[in-house]
Amino acid sequence: MSTSILVHAHTDARRSQVDATDVVLTGDRPTGALHLGHYAGSLRSRLALQGQCAQTLLIADLQALTDSSGRAAHVAQHVTEVALDYLAVGIDPTQTTIAVQSRLSALAELSVLYLNLVTVARLERNPTVKAEVELRGFERDIPAGFLCYPVSQAADITGFRATIVPVGDDQLPMIEQTNEIVRRVNRMAGARVLPECRALLSSTPRLPGIDGRKASKSVGNAIPLSATPDAIRELVHAMYTDPGHVRASDRGRVEGNVVFAYLDAFDPDRAAVNELKERYRAGGLGDTLLKRRLEGVLDALISPIRARRAALARDRAYVMNVLREGSDRANATTEAVLRDVRAAFSLEVR
Ligand code: TRP
Repeated sequence: MSTSILVHAHTDARRSQVDATDVVLTGDRPTGALHLGHYAGSLRSRLALQGQCAQTLLIADLQALTDSSGRAAHVAQHVTEVALDYLAVGIDPTQTTIAVQSRLSALAELSVLYLNLVTVARLERNPTVKAEVELRGFERDIPAGFLCYPVSQAADITGFRATIVPVGDDQLPMIEQTNEIVRRVNRMAGARVLPECRALLSSTPRLPGIDGRKASKSVGNAIPLSATPDAIRELVHAMYTDPGHVRASDRGRVEGNVVFAYLDAFDPDRAAVNELKERYRAGGLGDTLLKRRLEGVLDALISPIRARRAALARDRAYVMNVLREGSDRANATTEAVLRDVRAAFSLEVR
């Protein structure tokens, strides 16, 4: 499966940041279909990393349950949906391991061990957890599993001895907390049992939803990776531009303009986009023309993804097999790490 057509921007800078001995681990909660925000923020960098070093993508179904336990069936169903999204954008399971978190029992045991190295106060201070607790209105009724998910994420990362974690900036506190746990384990063991990891941030700023707010799987303001041409047209048509730009002749604002955010992220012709920005700022460029260009760019990006996704969706047995083989391979890795961490805790060697 060729991926080169899909990786058309922002990849060269990343190449130099990783070497062949690095181990890349990242994951997604299977709570909905992936969208263009995921493509710009993480899928594209995973495609660029593919083949350069070991890489595992973890479908984090257990983590999804920490705030969606009432939607367990929904989460289970989306494990395959996320796998389909990965394969459709060009993740190649012979080069990138795709594994399901709940099938890796070593990760659960690592989490239990690590819980002894972390205080509740430290978890409550984690800015990502704090922000999500506020967003969801949990207050003191926060599920204990949710409060502790940074620990489970540390298990995910260290379970693969990952050195590189490509994530959005909202996940930086997770990396910090993981490295604290790594240092504690290594101190206990008196040896470097686990490597510290570093985040690899996307070079594209967070892609907004079509309304200019945070793009979300559930709010309906994101463009799904499998959007039909009609849906693309409608979503682009509804995009927030500049409310002060009423007539084409008016001067327009580029900053905060969602259409330009998407053109910046996906239009391969940077020079043309820069020229459009100048014309828009000066006045004389209408939203319709701009949106038509974006529609073309998104159609070209999404069409092959949609076609591959549809073909793969007809071959469930193949997708199941990818998940089974990937999880088996990942299991061997995480079990070996667990043996070493158990030893650091002076637990019997199994
Ligand atoms: N917390 C990540 C998210 O919300 C998903 C995730 C789970 C993850 N395990 C991970 C990311 C390990 C990086 C590494 O999207």
